[in-house]
Amino acid sequence: MKGTLKGIDEIQWWHIVPLGDGRVTPGRSDVSRLEDVFLYPALNLAGKSVLDIGCWDGYFSFRSEQRGASRVVAMDDPDLRWGGMDGFEFLHDHFKSKVEFVKRSIYQPLQEQFDVVLCYGVLYHVNDPLTAATNAFQMSKDVAAFESLIIDVPDPILLLLEPGSVNNDPTNLYMLSTAWLDTVAKLNGFERVQHLQQTPQRGATIYRRVAPAVPQYPAFCYSLPPLNAPKH
Ligand SMILES: C[S@@+](CC[C@H](N)C(=O)[O-])C[C@H]1O[C@@H](n2cnc3c(N)ncnc32)[C@H](O)[C@@H]1O
Repeated sequence: MKGTLKGIDEIQWWHIVPLGDGRVTPGRSDVSRLEDVFLYPALNLAGKSVLDIGCWDGYFSFRSEQRGASRVVAMDDPDLRWGGMDGFEFLHDHFKSKVEFVKRSIYQPLQEQFDVVLCYGVLYHVNDPLTAATNAFQMSKDVAAFESLIIDVPDPILLLLEPGSVNNDPTNLYMLSTAWLDTVAKLNGFERVQHLQQTPQRGATIYRRVAPAVPQYPAFCYSLPPLNAPKH
């Protein structure tokens, strides 16, 4: 990794990460305790290629490597949140990691597919969740896991939130419904494996591919065409 590494206390952390030597990074999201509610332990990662979209400090990227993933790509744009690359670079060095970082938005999908795609904590922050979710599914060969603001109801709802109405955070733009995400999954050849509703407004879902990658809408239907959108 580039640049001079900052010390653990100089970094603006998001993830609280146990470093394995008794130290813990002083972040805000106690993500190691949240692994279950992200359905992360349910994923088989050994020998798999993994893409972690919106990785921030990279907790799930480094954990995936530690859980035996053969290749891990961590995707995020540090300009979209605080802390820059400091936390990620610290952990990359600390864990002597081979995780590859790509500075990219979910709207700039990689032209390759991964066995497992993680898209945790992203969809409700972005202005076009349909394209974002489609890109996440399209970058997956087999499994895609999402964590989001989400309500478990049978109607496929995408609710635009009153600014600041959820957790007083104006970057929380949308509330998804499970049926909405299931429908986007269906459009992309995936079906639901498991959903866990953590709170009435938050949950995680795992999908698996059951049909080839065939986006249902041509590129002109999107403001930002998703990966492999047909041109007709
Ligand atoms: C709430 S954090 C989630 C971090 C981590 N995935 C987790 O679950 O703990 C949201 C992350 O999404 C990233 N993000 C926001 N907009 C994005 C976009 N358009 N493409 C990719 N990542 C994005 C942010 O930079 C940030 O790292």
